[in-house]
Amino acid sequence: MLPDRFLWGVSTAAYQIEGGVAEDGRSPSIWDTFVREPGRVVDGSTGDVACDHYHRVDEDVALLAGLGVDAYRFSIAWPRVQPGGQGPANPAGLDFYESLVDRLLGSGIAPVATLFHWDLPQALQDEGGWFNRETAARFADYADLVAARLGDRVAMWITLNEPFVHTVFGHAFGLHAPGQALMFDALPTAHHQLLAHGLAVPALRARSSSPITIANNYSPVYLRGDTDEDIVAGDVYDALHNRLFTDPLLGRGYPAPFELPVKDRDLETIAAPIDALGVNYYQPTGIRAPSTSDSGLPFDIVPLEGYPRTDFDWPVVPAGLGELLTRLQADYGLPLYVTESGCAYAESPDDQRRIDYLAGHIDALEAARAGGVDVRGYFVWSIVDNFEWAEGYTKRFGLVHVDFDSLVRTPKASYHWLRERLGRKA
Ligand code: FCB
Repeated sequence: MLPDRFLWGVSTAAYQIEGGVAEDGRSPSIWDTFVREPGRVVDGSTGDVACDHYHRVDEDVALLAGLGVDAYRFSIAWPRVQPGGQGPANPAGLDFYESLVDRLLGSGIAPVATLFHWDLPQALQDEGGWFNRETAARFADYADLVAARLGDRVAMWITLNEPFVHTVFGHAFGLHAPGQALMFDALPTAHHQLLAHGLAVPALRARSSSPITIANNYSPVYLRGDTDEDIVAGDVYDALHNRLFTDPLLGRGYPAPFELPVKDRDLETIAAPIDALGVNYYQPTGIRAPSTSDSGLPFDIVPLEGYPRTDFDWPVVPAGLGELLTRLQADYGLPLYVTESGCAYAESPDDQRRIDYLAGHIDALEAARAGGVDVRGYFVWSIVDNFEWAEGYTKRFGLVHVDFDSLVRTPKASYHWLRERLGRKA
């Protein structure tokens, strides 16, 4: 199923590209709700149409085939497959993903499916969302429905995308759906997402022999200060961003100082064996001790000076990817896949800065591999410009430009560059 070689791929997520939000029985997700709240999305936009991928699957698979990737990572919208978040499958929702998977396979592209990329059915949010332990059991049911239809053809499963970002941006800072700003009171949502992951693993295994992983966001901590307090602040931030969502997967429980609502055999459930770690890397994080107690946080996040920056104002630090892969291998010993790596730049079609960005990160990846790190794939975020969450359509991550009025797709220079690069596959 999964080609026995290093996988070059690209990634997307359902809400960011599909559109068709009210079609074929799909129910609203928390993102459909959130984007309608004034002021949540900088340009006031929604994912109602996005890239209209729902109606343009043929064209988009042709773009993937033209690029020459081995694999395509997409996400499945829970509210399409199981409107309302419980009960029987909606056959039309599964039909859509089945036709995508079959088209990919027909083009020689391995389908890598993420089951949850932040689009929780609103009906489950109405019952507490990820604060409700029951949501974890609902997720395992949903995973079973997907695997019953696609378990023989999906080449690799990713249970959750970036539970760290969903907890912190969605529930602690209120910048993403569902828009809750609860600071450290958000932590139960971390535990219940991980429980959902742990319950989904055996559900997937029962119907599929394909490898299973989870994609987390990781960020090397770059200390900006050298006092004892700075070091403590760095350790706390590192535990939150890099360990809280991974240590328990390996049976190590939660890192201090965090306490989560663990019950009964939860930690065993969460530690169900997986086959690899998915690594989403964009940037390191500058940390020092808090300068005041105003934020209520045990660290200050400070900008990292001296690096080029993307349109998101994220520093461009390819070396951070190598550091991260080396550390994750040493700490956890599982095979790694870079499941997202990319940058926001508006220029098109001559996006030389994206080419430079990808070349630098691929060099860092190759150096890590040459140094013995077992990294088995690299997925660029993203094949197309898309709906970038709270940033709406103002941040362009695509190898392919999308005109959001006409929906015309135009490959950028980076698309052609990557195709050439993949022609000389490592
Ligand atoms: C990641 C998300 C992905 C995309 C990129 C830019 O955190 O997983 O959906 O928004 O950032």
